[in-house]
Amino acid sequence: MSAAVQLESRFPMPIPIGWYIVAYSDELNVGEAKSIRYFGQELALYRGQDGKARLLDAYCRHMGANLADGEVIDNTLACPFHAWQYDETGAVTHIPYAKVIPPKVRKPCIKSWPLVEDNQAIWAWYHPDNAQPSWKVKTYPETVSDEWTGLAKREWFINTHSQEMAENAADIAHFKYVHGTAEFPSEGVVEYDGIYRNGYVDAKMDTGKGQIDGKIENGNIGPGQSWTRFSIVVETFMMSSITPIDGDHVHVRFAFTNRKEDMAGPMKNVPGAFIKEIEKQLEEDKPVWERKIYLPTMTLCDGDGPVKRIRDWYNQFYVGFENL
Ligand code: FES
Ligand SMILES: [Fe+2]
Repeated sequence: MSAAVQLESRFPMPIPIGWYIVAYSDELNVGEAKSIRYFGQELALYRGQDGKARLLDAYCRHMGANLADGEVIDNTLACPFHAWQYDETGAVTHIPYAKVIPPKVRKPCIKSWPLVEDNQAIWAWYHPDNAQPSWKVKTYPETVSDEWTGLAKREWFINTHSQEMAENAADIAHFKYVHGTAEFPSEGVVEYDGIYRNGYVDAKMDTGKGQIDGKIENGNIGPGQSWTRFSIVVETFMMSSITPIDGDHVHVRFAFTNRKEDMAGPMKNVPGAFIKEIEKQLEEDKPVWERKIYLPTMTLCDGDGPVKRIRDWYNQFYVGFENL
């Protein structure tokens, strides 16, 4: 059970601890195994016949085959090479051609990752020293309610670190120069409380009949779980997760949902416009993120937003690193 090895990353900060989406629930069928690569590691995700998802380190202790290519048997994962079966703790429970299971593998011998299924997604807990979760995944009523639509999913693969993306929210000046907004938006009211960061900002939307007032609320629960609720004309809820693939690549997932009754009404086109705007903004930021470097000491001016505050908040999620 070794910690992630991060080679020649563009960033000095390691992968932050937290819960991250590693798949949507509907991407993993009962009895299916999947190869995934996150946190700089090869992993085997599978769903047992009991419907429960499990996540193991990928490499079999026998001769190193990749378990993700194996077969789900009952609630175990059988290696594709010689059919050794692993249970959810990472212990070998059956070798079809042996009388005795070697004692070394009879107990957990590969890492079993803390996993939670919620909000129509499968969340894995990352900690470089394999410490157990220190908080829970937040359940969003919108993603588990029949009154809200199925998730409209968008995803991106970006060569950056999640802290760089988080800093974007407080970087009010870039909105004008990267996103072309007329004004510098206000960061709004932001509260930091332990692993939580919550924001509230008044928002206006131009319509054919003048401006409409609304509000945007957002929150982070650690570095890997965040949400935004746009209440402008209709309510749109966005769940997001930025999952580290390794030290300098992330898999970004945004998933949108709306009240079914709104989507049947005259305002049904409004959410689509939001989604387009968010996609546009992310694609405008992406080339900047992919080409920039991390400066341990920024030179900020009086018109900049409180970017440093986000760095300070991020420090609690690092083991062995601190933003200055
Ligand atoms: S390598 Fe996995 S059973 Fe042999
Ligand atoms: Fe941006």
